[in-house]
Amino acid sequence: MNKVLIATEKPFAPAAVEQIKQVLDKAGYQLNLLEKYTDVDEFKKAVGDVQALIVRSDKVTREIIEVAQNLKIVVRAGAGYDNLDLEACSEKGIVAMNTPGQNSNAVAELAFGMMIYHVRNHFNGTSGNELRGKKLGIHAFGNVGKYVAAIAKGFGMIVYTYDPFVQKPEIEKHGVKAVDSAEELYKTCQFISLNIPANEKTKNSIGYQLMSSMPKGAVLVNTARKEVINEDELLKVFEERPDFSYLSDVAPDCKEHIESKYEGRYVFTAKKMGAQTAEANINAGIAAATQIVNYLEKGDKTFQVNK
Ligand code: 3PG
Repeated sequence: MNKVLIATEKPFAPAAVEQIKQVLDKAGYQLNLLEKYTDVDEFKKAVGDVQALIVRSDKVTREIIEVAQNLKIVVRAGAGYDNLDLEACSEKGIVAMNTPGQNSNAVAELAFGMMIYHVRNHFNGTSGNELRGKKLGIHAFGNVGKYVAAIAKGFGMIVYTYDPFVQKPEIEKHGVKAVDSAEELYKTCQFISLNIPANEKTKNSIGYQLMSSMPKGAVLVNTARKEVINEDELLKVFEERPDFSYLSDVAPDCKEHIESKYEGRYVFTAKKMGAQTAEANINAGIAAATQIVNYLEKGDKTFQVNK
């Protein structure tokens, strides 16, 4: 019997686990559940004899792969797979997948939750600002970016995007203005929503030049990964531009420095909250379980990321 381990340091909603179980039951697979683990040894022990693994942001390192003797497939229930050691997976013939698009709406809604909270002065009773009529730049136009655009239009924002991998006519179909460079996007838009993946090219790529070029009252919203920001340069912008704010899911490593000096100019979540909704967990969880069954039963490799 195939065994599937869900290893989630930050658990799915119970309804999602229930629905994953239903998919696996139907296939005759066994579900093993490891939630809220605090020690990597617990993960290593649990992964020892399973054929398939479902994780969220949990780090699937070479160490984990090496002890997972029977593992054939690992699915990151979510979009970003910077937590998977793809090389280690490939070396052992393990297929790695993500579930693109399944939790994107939740992430996009959080970006707006953070923006509203911020422009209304953290609900402290003072008079704030509105989003209507303001320029929002979406960097970049993937699954989350598209949801951000749709919601922004509902708010009456003027929406721009930069994405070198999406054709302009495709962007324009969504009623969004496509610009030719990140420089142009940041120079044009008071609000920027960061929706790029974290990889070798993008890590540390958002630096002083881009951030400091933003118009007056700049608000940078990062629901992607903290690693894409150059934090030394972020601090330089905070120091030089009293009108600059940074909203991030999750907090940057330089959180204490910012919190001690720049009150009212940041919003940080304690844990990554973007995909923390029952709906997102159910969508991503069912997709992950279904992809596992389809791979183990039919060899279907759709959504493989370690080709
Ligand atoms: C993702 O990449 O899918 C999101 O960042 C959500 O991550 P999480 O599943 O750890 O909340």
